[in-house]
Parts: sequence; C-alpha cells; structure tokens
Amino acid sequence: MGFATDAIHIGQEPDPATGAVIVPIYQTSTFVQEELGKHKGYEYARTSNPTRAALERNLAALERGRFAFAFASGMAAINAVMTLFKAGDHVAAGRNLYGGTFRLFERVLKDFGLTFSYADTRQLEEVERALRPETRLLFVETPTNPIMEITDLAAVAKLAHRHGILLAVDNTFMSPFFQQPLELGADIVVHSTTKYLNGHSDGVGGAVILKDARLAERLKFIQNAAGAVLGPFDSWLILRGVKTLAVRMRQHNANGMAVAQHLERHPKVRKVYYPGLSSHPQRDLARKQMSGFGGMLSFETGSLENARAVLKSVRLCSLAESLGGVETLISHPATMTHASVPAEERKQLGITDGLVRISVGIEDVEDIMADLDQALDQIPN
Ligand SMILES: Cc1ncc(COP(=O)(O)O)c(C=O)c1O
Repeated sequence: MGFATDAIHIGQEPDPATGAVIVPIYQTSTFVQEELGKHKGYEYARTSNPTRAALERNLAALERGRFAFAFASGMAAINAVMTLFKAGDHVAAGRNLYGGTFRLFERVLKDFGLTFSYADTRQLEEVERALRPETRLLFVETPTNPIMEITDLAAVAKLAHRHGILLAVDNTFMSPFFQQPLELGADIVVHSTTKYLNGHSDGVGGAVILKDARLAERLKFIQNAAGAVLGPFDSWLILRGVKTLAVRMRQHNANGMAVAQHLERHPKVRKVYYPGLSSHPQRDLARKQMSGFGGMLSFETGSLENARAVLKSVRLCSLAESLGGVETLISHPATMTHASVPAEERKQLGITDGLVRISVGIEDVEDIMADLDQALDQIPN
C-alpha cells in the first residue's frame, strides 16, 4: 500500500472489543489477569499500552522499520538511544545538532562516561577523521537546524558500517513522508513527534524506529526499565495527526518553496536557507535522498536589531519555539533553540544574531507572505 494509506490504516484496525473505527485511548495503568500468567498481552502500562502499541506499529511502518518505541519527548527518545551504549564508548555526531541534543550530550551524558566529537557530516573525510577505535555510533541530523545543511545518508551509512559503527538519524525535520533513513542504510531513526508527526502543536513526544531485532529488544528493555514512555492520550493525538501527514507535508512543501522564493527576492533579506532553492549548494543531494524539501527555512536579516524588528512585527506568524505544526511559527535560533550552544560555536555554524527561522505552516501562502512583507518593512533602509 502507499504511504498515505499506511498512515491511516496500519496499527489502526477497528477496535476488536467494540468495532470503534478509531483506536481508543486506553487510559489505564494496569490490566486484569485471568489467572497467574494468563492475560491478553498487556500487564502494566509502562511496559505496554494498546494505544501506544498502535502508534508504535504505525510509525514502524511509515519509517520502513520493523520496530518502533514511543517516548515522552524527542529528548527522551534520543536519551534512550544513547543508553544503548556504555561508559568509554564514543559517539561521533553532526556539528550542527538541535541545541537540546547537544546539551544532553555535553551536559548530561558526558558525566556518565560517554565521549562525543562533532564533525561537519557533509564532508565524509571529516566524519572519518572523527572516528576512533571506541566509536560506536554516528549521530546525524539532516537537514540541520536551522542552516539546512544536508548529509548524504547513503554515503555516511556505508562509511559507518565499514567501521562497524551504527548510524542514527534524527528525521524530525523531514518526517518519513519526505525522507526514510532506514531505506538509505541507517540503523536507527529518532523523531521528536512533537513536530510534523503530531502536526498540530498539541503534544510533546518522541519515537525511535529500527529494523534490527537485537537492538530493538534492548531498546524495549530500556523503554520499560527507564520508563520515559508516551502516555495513551498523547499516543492517540499523534495517531490522529499521522492520518493527515501526507496531505499536510505536501502543503508544507508547497508553502515552504513559495515562501523561500518570495524571501529570496525580497530586498531586505540577505540570504535564504532552503534545500529546494537553486541557490542551495546541496540541492541535488536533497533531491536524491528526499522526495520533498519540507516547510523549514531560515533567512538572514543582517543584525539582531533587524531580526528583533521582524519578530516583533509579525501578526499571523507566531513567535514561538518548535516547528512542524499547521500554523506558521517564527523564531530566533541564537536566543531560542540554540541558546545552549556557545556563542563562538554558533558563529562557526552560521547561526548569526540576524538569523530568523520559519516553520512554514499550511495557511493560505499569500497570507504568510503578506505578513512577512509587512514585518520586513519594519527593518530600516
Ligand atoms: C531536530 C530535533 N530533534 C529533537 C528535538 C527534541 O524534541 P522534544 O522537544 O520533543 O523533546 C527537537 C525539538 O525541537 C528537534 O527540533
């Protein structure tokens, strides 16, 4: 079946108990047992819950994996992946990760003996140079947030496997509708489901998807043992969101491209970062491994004052962290999502004080462009 059909149906068969078309919210902490050791597959809701299980089956199918595990947030999902490893293990990661991921690595996991180094994962030689004998994982985000740099997933998967290393990819920005890292050779996919998978900005969640049964068994053990599971209501919200993922992503993509082109022509905008633009240095690679360019873009206003003027003046676009919802959100990476990245590193990454990020929603695109135009007019000539 096609992607949209899978999104609507997999894991979501009519409820066997009642025939309900929609998977119920099994808001229960425990499940009665007929006699010792005899139950219907569920014992205690941290270990497994039918609503969460439905979501996990659905996400496994959409990412073309075999197993999925839903967590209380994207960070909880990433943290669970990292606990597959042990003190002394080394992780090579992209140099331009989501700020919260960088913070988890540097300010939490380092204290437990994991070591990290960072590379520009666009450059295979740089990735190879970052590897050590004790490297166990390569962790990549593509496109990166907010500069939209693209890593060649098939190439880094090959490189990682040649060195006996696992490849994990944070696929939050693209969603499985536009990019399927497991098909390109990755071993592990992580998501902040808070973003496109949910799509309606009304729940925080995360997921890990993989193919390998042994890794999956260990991750299931960790999910239950550490317990950062996604609750049934949040699981249900994501299931509901995922049903429209295909139509939403098509519209995010169309609006994203239109806004990117519009901003690129705007005299007050110095540069636009969007992988669908011909000015993007990696557009061909983006075309090769993604089936669309998505709704995320950033643009350079030239200074903190200019960025502040734009962000203060928008009316339709909401000034807020996060992304991937139906509504357009606008943010300032240097002081919001990437505030935990040291200023010097931000500078090296191109995350200037004048950079503004937009998660282009699915409103009428003319309204989004008109709002940005009137906000850009506030920048002095
Ligand atoms: C790319 C990416 N990965 C992970 C996360 C963390 O997800 P959460 O906020 O659901 O914990 C985010 C959050 O913004 C993100 O943008």
